Amino acid sequence: MVEREFIFLKPNTIRRGLTGEVISRLERRGIKIIALKMIQFTREQAEKLYEEHKDKPFYNELIDFVLSGPSVVMVVEGPRVIEMVRHIIGATDPLKASPGSIRGEFGMSVTKNIVHASDSPEKAEREMKIFFSEEEILNYRLDV
Ligand code: CMP
Repeated sequence: MVEREFIFLKPNTIRRGLTGEVISRLERRGIKIIALKMIQFTREQAEKLYEEHKDKPFYNELIDFVLSGPSVVMVVEGPRVIEMVRHIIGATDPLKASPGSIRGEFGMSVTKNIVHASDSPEKAEREMKIFFSEEEILNYRLDV
């Protein structure tokens, strides 16, 4: 079944000049990007995205970090794409992420873990709507 997944590259990924590297790793696995833009999150967007973590001890640090500079937000699409993206990205904690994964290679801490990807189709739909209108999510055919 074709799924849609929301992904965002965190501010220090952009500051470290890793934007192209991360997007390229996804594209090289055949992942189809159907929306993409660089934005500065508003506090409202950040709080909505991470509302499930609002009582966690790391919440304030997480919000400050995602507001610290521009992020790149994306929507991708494909069969089992959520599983595929999460496999390529690796575990939340870069120390536990496998060495060949994006976080395993570039992640510096649980906060500075390069990239976020939704963990279910329901969350993906909720999260992409915080940043994209339906008109910004495009329909086209990949050349294979
Ligand atoms: P992300 O995939 O963006 O989803 C929630 C984020 O919370 C997660 O990546 C981490 O950056 C952050 N996070 C989760 N657990 C911790 C923790 N124990 N300490 C600090 N940050 C955390």
